[in-house]
Amino acid sequence: MENTFEELGLNEWLYTQCEAMGLSKPTPIQINCVPPILEGRDCIGCAKTGSGKTAAFALPILQKLSEDPYGIFALVLTPTRELAFQIAEQFNVLGKPIGIRVTVITGGLDMMKQGIDLSVKPHIVISTPGRLADHLQSCDTFSLKKIKFLVLDEADRLIEDDFGEQLEVIFEVLPKRRQTLLFSATMTKNLEDMQDLAMTKPFFWQQISQESTVESLEQYYILMPADVKDAYLVHTLDKYLEKNKKSSVIIFTNTCKYTQILGIILSELGMQCVVLHSMIRQKERLASLAKFKSSQVSVLIATDVASRGLDIPTVDLIINHNVPNRPKDYVHRVGRTARAGRCGKSITMVSQFDVKLVHAIEAFVKKKMEEWPVEEKEVMKILVEVATSKREAQIRLDERDFGEQKEINKRKRMILEGKDPEKEEQKKQKFIKEKTKERKKIRDMKKKEKV
Ligand SMILES: Nc1ncnc2c1ncn2[C@@H]1O[C@H](COP(=O)(O)OP(=O)(O)OP(=O)(O)O)[C@@H](O)[C@H]1O
Ligand SMILES: [Mg+2]
Repeated sequence: MENTFEELGLNEWLYTQCEAMGLSKPTPIQINCVPPILEGRDCIGCAKTGSGKTAAFALPILQKLSEDPYGIFALVLTPTRELAFQIAEQFNVLGKPIGIRVTVITGGLDMMKQGIDLSVKPHIVISTPGRLADHLQSCDTFSLKKIKFLVLDEADRLIEDDFGEQLEVIFEVLPKRRQTLLFSATMTKNLEDMQDLAMTKPFFWQQISQESTVESLEQYYILMPADVKDAYLVHTLDKYLEKNKKSSVIIFTNTCKYTQILGIILSELGMQCVVLHSMIRQKERLASLAKFKSSQVSVLIATDVASRGLDIPTVDLIINHNVPNRPKDYVHRVGRTARAGRCGKSITMVSQFDVKLVHAIEAFVKKKMEEWPVEEKEVMKILVEVATSKREAQIRLDERDFGEQKEINKRKRMILEGKDPEKEEQKKQKFIKEKTKERKKIRDMKKKEKV
């Protein structure tokens, strides 16, 4: 059984670099996936949150790049912008000895500058699908025709969620001969959707485990009436931070607006926090995250935009302000803590309306949550104060038309581009329908072939 990076077949400069980064021995996903990728195989790797999937694809890519360096050598797609930056950082650190050039292409930042960055042939491009598709459709100063590697990190999310149209645009310009690497902590219901993307029959590795969350994570719930949830949250957070002064906490909510409301409530009550969601500008998003990562503030309130892939070692508590609808989202959210063997806790706030959802999550994860102790008398003391702050926060946001603004901006952009927003929406729906049909047809055909 291999248990050093050297024994996985990595070159000296690369395993020395791993050691320099404090990676003393490879994790199971790295042990199992690095050798077949080095052999040239396509690969689907599925292992729990925080288990080192990034290095499992970055290391073999860097090795191959060092043997035959050119740009653009690899394309890595991820569902969120912040994750793209994080992966770029990992490539930059690991690939420093070979002078690696990495470019991040995501929405929300200057397209002109990105166009120039792409034209000087970086080795690795890390991108969210939407912006890369935009570049492909609007300029021809770069080519992805010669890439050796295509990586889909958080592959199931890219495949299942709303990225179909953009992925089509990208896949069309990629070479048929390439290695395709798909990684995630959760799989699609249909593994075939993933296999379809690979050119040859991929090497498939999945960590065998009873539970889908990590063992070092303690999972709790708080049961309370829906209308006093925020007071319970404030109380719980306050008590936790009082006892754990150096902690970093992420609170997940279900909408951008609620994220903003909670941000205002906590600030009014004297608790420092930052917010991360898709309705603030990208520069602010990155600034929020930087403040949180460097422990300048200990609370981050975010939508599911932060639920996948982010690696912030100091985070030791996740609070689910709402119970996620999809059990998978729960797994990724709570996976922002207890990473790389560390301990962590999660608390899910459960109201009378959420009991079914909690059962579905427990069945999916194969673990029961325990009750988190709350001093109800203490909560009663702050009920009025929290309710007042909330009302004020709502009024403030309504005055700013928060919520409608995003839709308005999107429509404005389309009109500026000479498109009709209604027609575009119809086109999109039609496209999704057709693609779903096509995929089903291909799948049915494959099934018949097998019979
Ligand atoms: N071999 C190793 N030994 C120790 N730490 C490692 C090793 N490989 C990776 N790590 C560290 O573990 C942490 C988690 O890694 P990574 O972000 O790649 O996890 P992941 O499997 O992609 O999780 P997620 O599913 O949440 O995206 C990172 O801080 C990374 O530097
Ligand atoms: Mg990851």
